[in-house]
Amino acid sequence: MFKNSRIKPAPKVVRTEQAPVVKKPQPLPSKIASSARRQQQIARSNASSLRSSPAISNRSSPATSPSEDHEPSSRHLQVPKRKPTRQSSPSDRPKFNESDDDEDDSTACQQPAQKRQKVQDKGGGKRQLRSRKAFSEADAGRFKMIHAAEIVATLRKPKAVSDTSVEDVIVELQYPSASQRERYDLHFGKDRIDSIEEIIEIAKVVTKVYLTDEQAEPFLGQDNGKVIRELEKARNTLAKEPTQSRREDFKKAVDGYNTAIQALIQDGALAKNLDNRCDLPLEMVQLILRQVYDRTVSPDVDSLRKYDAGSDNVYGELLSPLVNRIFKKTKITSDQVFVDLGSGVGNVVLQAALQVGCESWGCEMVPNSCKLAKAQKKEFKARCRLWGIASGEVHLVADDFKHNISIQNAMKRADVILVNNEVFSSELNHTLNLMFLDCKDGCRIVSLKSFVPEGYQITARNIGNPWNVLDVEKLQYYHGDVSWTGAGGDYYIATKDSQRLADFERQ
Ligand SMILES: C[S@@+](CC[C@H](N)C(=O)[O-])C[C@H]1O[C@@H](n2cnc3c(N)ncnc32)[C@H](O)[C@@H]1O
Repeated sequence: MFKNSRIKPAPKVVRTEQAPVVKKPQPLPSKIASSARRQQQIARSNASSLRSSPAISNRSSPATSPSEDHEPSSRHLQVPKRKPTRQSSPSDRPKFNESDDDEDDSTACQQPAQKRQKVQDKGGGKRQLRSRKAFSEADAGRFKMIHAAEIVATLRKPKAVSDTSVEDVIVELQYPSASQRERYDLHFGKDRIDSIEEIIEIAKVVTKVYLTDEQAEPFLGQDNGKVIRELEKARNTLAKEPTQSRREDFKKAVDGYNTAIQALIQDGALAKNLDNRCDLPLEMVQLILRQVYDRTVSPDVDSLRKYDAGSDNVYGELLSPLVNRIFKKTKITSDQVFVDLGSGVGNVVLQAALQVGCESWGCEMVPNSCKLAKAQKKEFKARCRLWGIASGEVHLVADDFKHNISIQNAMKRADVILVNNEVFSSELNHTLNLMFLDCKDGCRIVSLKSFVPEGYQITARNIGNPWNVLDVEKLQYYHGDVSWTGAGGDYYIATKDSQRLADFERQ
């Protein structure tokens, strides 16, 4: 049952099982109950099989069974206390290029102009990365978005009327598309958005991802005159000497970058290079998601801490390095469907749509989270356009997933379902177990608590148990993978496989 598990499956002998204390399962919504009934013996003997299942007595056991007499030691996940600008900081998180998985999944796409471009998506290389709209100038690239300057402006203390030493220096940054530029305020603060560092980071990512080696030549290197070097030099002198004229120097360096990028956009080079790619490196995915989060969630992040402690609505986030590994482990591709049950502010849903390019669904019931998820979706669409990227479809449903029909329909088509059920009650996990009966075979269900107890075996006595259609693999996450702890832990990937039950019955 458990691949990679330290705990070996019980030997195939008749076991004497202790009847656990059974908590009354919560009544099932009629929709779920009827779908469960359709599953032949599974639903028929569900209650009796649960009574005969092994008692769960330790924290590494699943939080799945209504028979569980143990709650997780903590029902408090933490909202990230991060300064969002650190979210994708490579210094304290596993780096994209360091992961073994990264190497495994990189193969050549159509022959790009240079070897720097690699492919992650094995969906037959089908993904069209370039947004045609973003490279056409039909509507002059004007659309609503939250400019960095707007965020910085809300944070700045009003200056004294007599203080003429600090004047606004607004720069406009060209993105790698025909879209409008983003306005940055060069005020040298590092609150929420560090404008100068973000501009340099964008310039480096654009150079790495959108340019051939030959085209990148005038941008890189240490010599004076290289575009990125000029930006860094201006940043360094401004840090030492934060004067108006140094800000103007940085602005000139940004103008130099804009001119160089604009020329490549106009001769069609960036669009062509993007057409030669079918993946995005994690650092670019993280940068775009962080831009979205900083401009929408961060200003209101305290609202995410308003939940009932001990309820199913405790908030916490899976961070992008772990989500990236989940995508690779499940091998999800751009023509597949991803669902996040309990999607919070929508981070993972957006990462799937951007990184994988797949149809991506989330369902969340807490109003504050839903409001921020909606804001993120809107800003995400604008950011994708700025970067010239066609993402997968995003659907964020504000409802209880136990009752919502559209999310249940998406679950039936889903290839990968994520449930961050670290602190879900055993009743909710049990309901989910029954909902998974409607998923298609081969669907992968990723969770923080296993939906099947370790060592569980199909026997004649538990033939109707919903656990019988899940094949579970246990994996590990590490420091920097989740928002609520700096330590590592376990997570699980279950594969829906009805054949296991059929095979047992044939024995
Ligand atoms: C720990 S958070 C996970 C957020 C996000 N999926 C992630 O991993 O970053 C779990 C979320 O599930 C939501 N949730 C719990 N029960 C739910 C239900 N029945 N319907 C919709 N959302 C639910 C909670 O409100 C909470 O925001």
